[in-house]
Amino acid sequence: MGEDSALAEEAQQAPEAVARGSRDDSSPQEPWHLRNMISKSRWKLLATLALVLVVMVWYSISREDRYIELFYFPIPGKKEPCLQGEAEKIASKLFGNYSREQPVFLQLKDYFWVKTPSAYELPYGTKGSEDLLLRVLAITSYSVPESIQSLKCRRCVVVGNGHRLRNSSLGEAINKYDVVIRLNSAPVAGYEQDVGSKTTMRLFYPESAHFNPKVEDNPDTLLVMVAFKAMDFHWIESILSDKKRVRKGFWKQPPLIWDVNPKQIRILNPFFMEMAADKLLSLPIQQPYKIKQKPTTGLLAITLALHLCDMVHIAGFGYPDAHHKKQSIHYYEYITLKSMVWSGHNVSQEALAIKRMLEIGAVKNLTYF
Ligand SMILES: *[C@@H]1O[C@H](CO)[C@@H](O)[C@H](O)[C@H]1NC(C)=O
Ligand SMILES: *[C@@H]1O[C@H](CO)[C@@H](O)[C@H](O)[C@H]1NC(C)=O
Ligand SMILES: *[C@@H]1O[C@H](CO)[C@@H](O)[C@H](O)[C@H]1NC(C)=O
Ligand SMILES: *[C@@H]1O[C@H](CO)[C@@H](O)[C@H](O)[C@H]1NC(C)=O
Repeated sequence: MGEDSALAEEAQQAPEAVARGSRDDSSPQEPWHLRNMISKSRWKLLATLALVLVVMVWYSISREDRYIELFYFPIPGKKEPCLQGEAEKIASKLFGNYSREQPVFLQLKDYFWVKTPSAYELPYGTKGSEDLLLRVLAITSYSVPESIQSLKCRRCVVVGNGHRLRNSSLGEAINKYDVVIRLNSAPVAGYEQDVGSKTTMRLFYPESAHFNPKVEDNPDTLLVMVAFKAMDFHWIESILSDKKRVRKGFWKQPPLIWDVNPKQIRILNPFFMEMAADKLLSLPIQQPYKIKQKPTTGLLAITLALHLCDMVHIAGFGYPDAHHKKQSIHYYEYITLKSMVWSGHNVSQEALAIKRMLEIGAVKNLTYF
């Protein structure tokens, strides 16, 4: 009882005490019991603050909660340590001394003001497609979002479309990466538990574009177009400028109506296609050469991630082995390995390339590879 009333008294005096204390702490006019009370109330205030802080930290850690980022407390054992520049360092063993100066996305200024000559035609360069490309770049954007740009260390995950994601329960883990890269028309809706719901970037080409991007992507997802042919530029321009649609020249009809914000669209620098083909698959890229084989979007995405990120993890890569020929290759639809025969991708050679990347530690697998 007595303590209660003392507390109330102290609480009343506290503001006054603080104000006075800041002026002169050891004023001789102050009676000793008052000074004693001031220091006692300060002590209690400090103790209360400390207690609140401890509870907050404990609560944040136990809940794995976002407050922690707000208060800049280290999160013990939460995320994997991310070493700045690590991916680039290891990747240089595969790609040689390639430079990070290559822009991730094609920029208008490189085609408008300074005409950057390209050594190759699509999909390895832009030679001969500059005029069409220029029209696309004039209505789209090239910036890497500030939210990625400002990160000291970028943790990225490339989510493949493989069947191994089924029942993986990796959704929550995937959502925690800074950058989540997805491929082609892989759905998210209905598969969140296994593949997550965050999509920072989605790589696609017209024939692989999802017909309903609003459902499968976030409002700020970057839709990164991989151009294989000049027609691909024509397609995206006709969609964004609402011009007469092109119907011929595709191996599968791409969407004619495509509900996207032009600000979300990016054009991937063909440099990454060149790197994936030349350095990872040793494909002949010198032209004129009739392109029979090309890297998959998945391998291209890993190449891009090694350039953009400091840490690269992969999930949902790999195909069923020879004993499971009837198993689906995708997590969301039933198609078998047979469908890959005429795709122009060499699945076994890509597997070797990915194995090598795992071995040297350039990437880490979240699902069996
Ligand atoms: C790559 O760069 C490193 C350091 O910048 C240098 O020591 C090395 O000789 C270079 N390698 C090649 C093949 O140019
Ligand atoms: C996923 O789990 C469900 C329910 O537990 C099961 O019926 C299904 O066969 C599993 N699918 C795979 C591919 O393991
Ligand atoms: C695919 O790659 C493997 C391994 O590099 C090679 O043995 C095979 O001949 C390639 N297949 C084709 C069709 O090029
Ligand atoms: C990664 O792949 C290897 C086989 O290549 C496998 O042993 C390991 O379990 C995989 N990691 C995860 C997390 O699935």
